[in-house]
Amino acid sequence: MKITSAQHLEQLRSLFVADEARHKKKVIVCCGTGCLANGAAKLVEAFHDAFKNNQITDFSVEAVKETGCHGFCEQGPLVVIEPQGTFYTKVKPKDIPEIISKSIQGSEIIKDRLFTDPATNQQIEKYNDVNFFKHQHRLALRNLGKISAHSIKEAIAAGGYAGFAKAINGMSPDGVIAEVDKANLRGRGGGGFPAGRKWKTCKSIESDVRYVICNGDEGDPGAFMDRSIMEGDPHSVLEGMMICAYAVGAKQGYIYVREEYPLAVIHLQKAIDDCIEYGLLGDNILGTEFSFSIRIARGAGAFVCGESSALMRSVAGEIGEPRAKYIRSVVKGLHDKPTVLNNVETYANVPLIIDKGADWFKSIGRPNNSGTKAFSLVGKVRNTGLIEVAMGTTLREIIYDIGGGILDDRPFKAVQTGGPSGGCLPEAMLDLPVDFDSLTENGSMMGSGGMIVMDNKTCMVDVARYFLNFLVSESCGKCTPCREGLYQLHEMTIKICEGKASMEDLEKIEKLSDMVVLGSLCGLGKSGPNPILSTLRYFRDEYIAHIRDKKCPAGVCRDLITYTVIDEKCTGCLACITACAYNAITGKKKEPHYIHQERCTKCGACEAVCKFDAIEVA
Ligand code: SF4
Ligand code: SF4
Ligand code: SF4
Ligand code: FES
Repeated sequence: MKITSAQHLEQLRSLFVADEARHKKKVIVCCGTGCLANGAAKLVEAFHDAFKNNQITDFSVEAVKETGCHGFCEQGPLVVIEPQGTFYTKVKPKDIPEIISKSIQGSEIIKDRLFTDPATNQQIEKYNDVNFFKHQHRLALRNLGKISAHSIKEAIAAGGYAGFAKAINGMSPDGVIAEVDKANLRGRGGGGFPAGRKWKTCKSIESDVRYVICNGDEGDPGAFMDRSIMEGDPHSVLEGMMICAYAVGAKQGYIYVREEYPLAVIHLQKAIDDCIEYGLLGDNILGTEFSFSIRIARGAGAFVCGESSALMRSVAGEIGEPRAKYIRSVVKGLHDKPTVLNNVETYANVPLIIDKGADWFKSIGRPNNSGTKAFSLVGKVRNTGLIEVAMGTTLREIIYDIGGGILDDRPFKAVQTGGPSGGCLPEAMLDLPVDFDSLTENGSMMGSGGMIVMDNKTCMVDVARYFLNFLVSESCGKCTPCREGLYQLHEMTIKICEGKASMEDLEKIEKLSDMVVLGSLCGLGKSGPNPILSTLRYFRDEYIAHIRDKKCPAGVCRDLITYTVIDEKCTGCLACITACAYNAITGKKKEPHYIHQERCTKCGACEAVCKFDAIEVA
């Protein structure tokens, strides 16, 4: 079926909305990657079987929605019964008959499957009452967990393509760019460069061909914002790209998706095929002069291919190496033609801006930092997952209200934002309103939205070592300051962790970091020293403790710690003897035990099993 005009689209939307409304109840089964890994496909099968066997009446298979990720994967597989909003976690196929008989055919709640808030220990019945969701403001993630990820009908019923239809029917390309510019939509992929300015430049370059590319090469370890959007709401991304293509005059678009995201590729391709079938991609879209196609380009998963010029080379089938920055890719990008590159989250915001207006978008967030930002909240927090908040939300609100606070009530130590080349912010910064500018001013960065929370058992030197190791292995090696400089910085962090460094090494680190920042060609090298510079800035005492006192205050660096038994606390329960794989512990039942240092490998197994806090790490 081809949609022939904007009016036709609206007629269809009314039909699809009515079609959805006929379901008195809906079963939302999360089928994002996390829940699928935990067996969500079997739940869908079990629901379908129940319908086929007529175990439920007044209900149809279409009322089972296989949605994208809700962001709360650690609690998956998730099932939500609408319209009540009953929220079940860690659901197993054996739970389905009970869910059907009690919560679908009746209105009973199954207590055993409810989410227990780890901060309050209270069971929560409704999805919207869960603190993890309650404190979020979802724009880019608006449809995740609500619509079937592979249904264009549900996407349209949820408002999909309204912004695009408005753009190509009622607005000039310059008008679209002006609206995005006025909204001050800053690129969500890292640098925070205003999208409208980029689009304006691309359009202003004299050229017969222009391209629009979506960067879905989310390389930060632990980040899954873009993957979840591509998997769970691919139409929002396509629509954003289509609006951009209309604005800048592009006929061809590419979505660059890393190899590790197979489900995203499947759902994107389905969405593209459906758009072609509905006449939303192809020639003379919605009966206008505008024609546009989108193809998926798959990347091999190199971190450096998140950099614009490397990404474009990779799309063109060349080696993904960055080139000198004086050639701007918006001017000379893919195949040397003017190219707009924005990331998944940025494009997902565009339809809302066009549909609801720049003023609406600017009313959310802070001056110069409009809208919201999605983060992958991980580390030592009670609730981990994918979240989206208004710009300006404080770190404290994110970590304590949404994240539920620090695991085991330990003291908060730091939060790392901005991915591997971001920075670590200390407790004094907990009330910092999070936005592009505030993070940069304080030595970190937004990046694509990684947020790792650390407690007092995290060693900041070890953190810097870990991220530098990642960057060393991901450096493409094209320029010496990055290739050799990051390698040397990594070696120095190892030396500090082993207690072999001197105070002069700290000066060397700072000088070398300056050189790497100045001399590197692309953002990977330029921001590469951030992990060490930001930890030195806020946690210098910890570096000094490693160097001068030969101590690791967090008890992490193996060469600087010893495990001993506190006689007064040891009950002689024998648990640590069993746990120690190196026969390093001796002792009799009900008598204090003893750790033989010459055999101890500092694996930490004894500390983990001791229920009496009788193992001291110092
Ligand atoms: S800075 Fe690093 S990643 Fe970037 S081009 Fe140079 S060597 Fe490659
Ligand atoms: S586990 Fe703890 S309490 Fe038990 S013997 Fe070992 S040190 Fe003592
Ligand atoms: S740290 Fe590991 S090796 Fe050492 S005593 Fe404990 S369990 Fe044994
Ligand atoms: S995949 Fe189900 S909540 Fe993330």
